[in-house]
Amino acid sequence: MTHARIEIAPSILASNFARLGEEIRMVEQAGAEVIHVDVMDGHFVPNISIGIPVVESLRKATRLPLDVHLMIEQPEEYIEEFVRAGASRVLVHEEATVHLDRALAMIREHGAEAGAAINPATPVVMLNEVLDKLDTVLVMSVNPGFGGQKFIRGALEKIRQLNQLRSRYNANFRIEVDGGVDLENVAELARAGANTFVAGTSIFHASDPTGATRQLRKLASEALSQKV
Ligand code: DX5
Ligand code: ZN
Repeated sequence: MTHARIEIAPSILASNFARLGEEIRMVEQAGAEVIHVDVMDGHFVPNISIGIPVVESLRKATRLPLDVHLMIEQPEEYIEEFVRAGASRVLVHEEATVHLDRALAMIREHGAEAGAAINPATPVVMLNEVLDKLDTVLVMSVNPGFGGQKFIRGALEKIRQLNQLRSRYNANFRIEVDGGVDLENVAELARAGANTFVAGTSIFHASDPTGATRQLRKLASEALSQKV
């Protein structure tokens, strides 16, 4: 099952943007599997971050998949451009579109993997009708908009629910968790069923970012092997 593979996805939001190329190389050498890219529009979330030109530059700077987390309203307006810029995976928020089914279909039509993200206040049931159209479900464990926030524990129960749904329907979507992921909670998240661990502050603000990346994966893998 492909979803069983653990992925550490450093979130560049916490990196030094003036040295982005070096920051990417560092996490790449530390064995990160995915680069997580946070796109914010100042409407869906109260912050503005980066957009299409940065994704284009990142595409040239790394061979790792780019996991593009769109925290923008009407994401369907921009899906094609982000895929063309180099997004390997595009994640849209369930709360940001009234046409989630269409947005997910568009992502796949343009050749990227499709993901839906849910905010802390959004229940898993909101994704019931689109489970077969998802490569990834992103469970937000903070209210999106900023790095460095405290992990919201309600995310654990949602990850467990998604894990059960995945088994029940023999589905193959990856469960990704984003916000406040660190060395303290990564094992519990892995046991709950998460596969992709987004980490900004706990990697880029660590005294040893390479060591932190490796340690996150080690703790997640050990938690999975102990589970069986
Ligand atoms: C928050 C973003 C996250 C953020 C995570 O809106 O979606 O990806 O960068 O940062 P940390 O790991 O610091 O919570
Ligand atoms: Zn994110």
